Amino acid sequence: MISLKIDGENIKVPEGSTLLQAAEKAGVEIPVMCYDDRLDHFASCMVCMVKSRDSGQMLASCSVKAEEGMDIITGDEEVFEARKASLELLLSDHTGDCQAPCQLACPAHMNIPLMNRLLGEGKVDEALQVVQQDIPIPSILGRICHAPCEGACRRKTIDEPVSICLLKRYAGDIGNLQHVSAKTVNQQALKKAIGNKKVAVIGAGPAGLSAACYLQRAGYQCILYEKSDRAGGLLHLAEVMDDSYPEVLDREISQILDTGIELKTNMAVDKDLFEKLLGSSDAIVVATGEIENGIRSWNIESGKNGITIDKSTYQTSHPPVFAIGNVVRSVKSAVRSVGHGKEVAASVHQYLSGEAVKGYPKMFNSRFGKLREEEFGEYLKESHPGKRMEPVAGQGKGFDHTEMQEEAGRCLHCDCRDLHTCKLRIHADRYAANQRRYKGDAFKPVTKVFVHDAIIYEPQKCIKCGICVRLTALHKEKYGFTFIGRGFDVRIGIPFDESLEADLSETAKEVAMACPTGALALK
Ligand code: SF4
Ligand code: SF4
Ligand code: SF4
Ligand code: FES
Repeated sequence: MISLKIDGENIKVPEGSTLLQAAEKAGVEIPVMCYDDRLDHFASCMVCMVKSRDSGQMLASCSVKAEEGMDIITGDEEVFEARKASLELLLSDHTGDCQAPCQLACPAHMNIPLMNRLLGEGKVDEALQVVQQDIPIPSILGRICHAPCEGACRRKTIDEPVSICLLKRYAGDIGNLQHVSAKTVNQQALKKAIGNKKVAVIGAGPAGLSAACYLQRAGYQCILYEKSDRAGGLLHLAEVMDDSYPEVLDREISQILDTGIELKTNMAVDKDLFEKLLGSSDAIVVATGEIENGIRSWNIESGKNGITIDKSTYQTSHPPVFAIGNVVRSVKSAVRSVGHGKEVAASVHQYLSGEAVKGYPKMFNSRFGKLREEEFGEYLKESHPGKRMEPVAGQGKGFDHTEMQEEAGRCLHCDCRDLHTCKLRIHADRYAANQRRYKGDAFKPVTKVFVHDAIIYEPQKCIKCGICVRLTALHKEKYGFTFIGRGFDVRIGIPFDESLEADLSETAKEVAMACPTGALALK
């Protein structure tokens, strides 16, 4: 056995163990990218760095063997910076979107590509379920949203943006919400977990409705205070070329209230009532739509543009009080107000759970610039050709089923297939890596290789770790993956010949799962 120290702790490991294995024994997790414990190893990613306390030397823990008397540091600032630099080098030669540009542009972060794929397959209830996770009023917004997502849509570069707004409207109009609620919300269980905590939401416009909806769904008891005689606020004043709008408005507002929210209309909140609410509620969300003189007497800091908040959390100078929508700045956009409502629900939940209030969680996203002409064909491999559909029923009307499926099929699947499991994304997020730090000007066009029934290969996301090569070799696949070329230009060669599919099929799935990035992914 070998004795060494990991972060000051004495441990013993069998001879031949690596520093990574020694750290694991000491209960210390070290990030890895190119390491797979089933395979022979050669260090290439340099994400697993640790430091010798004696020499100050940085060591790749996955391949350096533990030696008697070593004293290893796994987590100081220098180690953090070394890992971060390794990730930034990998990212400098990496092209891909983690989340699709449309989702990043949507103020409510709606998972648009997933909605599109489900609609394209005719799964309307499932699509509505995806929409409802981020937007509680899809039919309303499907008629009045200014669609910042469409402004960012990659398809726009090829011909015209995907008609995201009308697709969302279709999901809202045709999808079955009962189906959604039953699947996503178990109020009893949530209430048990949270206790009977109360949140007062002041103002029942789009921001207040959205905040109340997501807090109520999370298990809190929300009471909405509205100074007029009905919920909806500015949504009632939208100019819409569609006679069905008033009915849609009533339906979606009722659906939100039906989650169990208590609505108190004709209740203007003055200083006295505000102070009472502070005593009777666990948190307050102010969504009054405008800052009136009355609010200035509530003892919450405000400036000329509205109530002062921490921009990441919406928390005001008085911790149990949060503020969203037009009362913090002139938002003048229903979808932005809805986005505020959804985000503040995360902050209020953190506050009421006794966690640090950090706001809505945001993860690292790899992004690349505009699509170039030579890349159009690659992206179109997965989507319907042709321009954006216009509803035959006329402007202001929605799609019929065939139009909806045709339009949803135009989506290019810009989001990465491995965005929830990709180690490059997870580590880049943890180490706050900057994708542009070492980025050169060299342009490597995106390619998408449909190599096999089950998997897709995107070489520009490959970190050349060789796991796929060694795994196919391990399984003695006759025609596996190979390395082609040398040095910086090395790439992974894939057997393209269709007749080889059968040989690879056994290992294909396993290789895609073992690939640390989205370079090889299951279709
Ligand atoms: S491979 Fe990873 S880092 Fe790259 S786009 Fe996909 S999820 Fe993002
Ligand atoms: S093509 Fe689809 S995934 Fe890509 S940005 Fe447009 S809607 Fe989003
Ligand atoms: S494609 Fe192969 S070499 Fe490239 S990242 Fe995936 S497993 Fe590693
Ligand atoms: S060099 Fe150690 S995991 Fe990649």
